[in-house]
Amino acid sequence: MFMKQEKDWWKRAVIYQVYPRSFQDSNGDGIGDIQGLIGRLPYLEKLGIDCIWLSPVCRSPQDDNGYDISDYQDIDPMFGSLEDMEQLLAEAERHGIGILMDLVLNHSSDEHRWFQEALKGRENPYHDYYVWRDGAEGEYPNDMRSVFGGPAWQWVPELQQYYFHQFSVKQPDLNWENPKVRREIYDMIHWWLDKGVAGFRLDVIDQIAKDPELKVTCNGPRLHEFIRELSRETFQKGHYLTVGEAWGADVERAKLYSAPDGSEFSMVFQFEHICLDQIPGKEKWDLAPLPFLKLKAVLAKWQTELYGCGWNSLFWNNHDLPRIVSRWGNDGEYREESAKMLALLLHGMQGTPFIYQGEELGMTNVRFRPEEYRDIETVNLYRERLEAGYSQESVMESIYAKSRDNARTPMQWDDSENAGFTGGTPWIQVNPNYREINAAKQVEDPGSVWSFYRKLIEFRKRYSVLAEGRFALLCREDPRVFAYTRETTEEKLLVICNFFGEETDCPAECLAVYDDAEAQQGMELLLSNYSDNGKGHGRERLRPYEARMYYFQK
Ligand code: GLC
Ligand code: CA
Repeated sequence: MFMKQEKDWWKRAVIYQVYPRSFQDSNGDGIGDIQGLIGRLPYLEKLGIDCIWLSPVCRSPQDDNGYDISDYQDIDPMFGSLEDMEQLLAEAERHGIGILMDLVLNHSSDEHRWFQEALKGRENPYHDYYVWRDGAEGEYPNDMRSVFGGPAWQWVPELQQYYFHQFSVKQPDLNWENPKVRREIYDMIHWWLDKGVAGFRLDVIDQIAKDPELKVTCNGPRLHEFIRELSRETFQKGHYLTVGEAWGADVERAKLYSAPDGSEFSMVFQFEHICLDQIPGKEKWDLAPLPFLKLKAVLAKWQTELYGCGWNSLFWNNHDLPRIVSRWGNDGEYREESAKMLALLLHGMQGTPFIYQGEELGMTNVRFRPEEYRDIETVNLYRERLEAGYSQESVMESIYAKSRDNARTPMQWDDSENAGFTGGTPWIQVNPNYREINAAKQVEDPGSVWSFYRKLIEFRKRYSVLAEGRFALLCREDPRVFAYTRETTEEKLLVICNFFGEETDCPAECLAVYDDAEAQQGMELLLSNYSDNGKGHGRERLRPYEARMYYFQK
């Protein structure tokens, strides 16, 4: 059974997210599956990751690609069987890899047995597992909207009631106020713990304590009470990695979530840095440039404020976000340099890094025709914005930039048809650049983006300063360079990144740290994204997207 004995083992771990339907198909139906993933474990072991965060594989009508679960204790036939899952757990362990399951606890599918029972009548014992309001058809209890568009209330004529859904109509919200619901959930979690999982990612966990009366979804009044109970009743029985998805987390809340006493989770995904290219109060589709100085300030704030009293997750990507190299890097001329720069910048920080499948290859966004998109959010957005009078062109620009399908195109394994993902017709088109960008090409190439990620993962195990070092931001006001140090009593790291595509001066503050170390202990260049390793080029200048990590022992 995979369960590290050491309490905070996850502080030195690197996690890899697998979006199973897009990872590897094994039976030619065009959809990735568990057997496909099992076949790729050697690839992941070679990369050096510790755990896989597996996006949902439980039984589901797939209205939201598995984030609508109809049976928490079974595997969707599309992905395989429970036996396949058990085999995955065993084989992954053989490769030294743990599995984190994705727990979707805010809502179930409307096809879940509980909801089917709930529909039978107000007196049914399962009715109170969900959130209901009386009303009249067409007169919504209030004006709350669903995240995927439309009202957050759905009328059920047989009951003369509305049910509440923060996401699609097929994702009714569970009623966490009901202790029976919480007990069912804990029992289910124990069942997975007994199967040998290494931990969990908890989907939209900050939305469980909702109060539609007060129009509260995020950070409801009983949120931390519920989470502490959940943690006490389940995860605290062992050394598990738990990461809550919390769009509404600020630093103060994150300190509660990731308190060192283990009373809640190991860490959370917070999204403050990821939402910076969004106009406050507007939707993510209303595109805005990235305020670079703010990015530095925000990441530095999380690094310093959680130091010693919480723990960060580190990520640029997941299955809901566009590809980082297209978003804040350059997916043309400097694709490799900028992908490596972004990797180095993130993996030099304190926290647990998460790599999303294909990120380690520098996979990019796509530009599909409207009918080629599959994501429920994208499809709804397209329809709604056209109806609201937006031009087709502007809607497509938003979709190219932010659609969740950018992350969901199949993994690019090699340059054979469909990138080696499937022998059949893929459920979503492969990114046409797979002949150029694929794993087969990169795994053997020591200069590839993949090899760069592998080194960063290895460093996290080798250098304590990466896990423990205190963070300090350098040259806060420099408009092009992101630089910082990490420091323990024994070691120090210096990270210097040119975040943009033009040459620039290396700021004096960085050079001073360098000179100081060089004079005393000598300075080692651990990693750089230019093949001459920064040599032959004055250290006073930084080339486009140039990134360097220096190291010295005190
Ligand atoms: C989370 C998931 C997302 C899903 C939503 C509803 O944000 O990451 O993919 O659509 O929750 O479950
Ligand atoms: Ca399949």
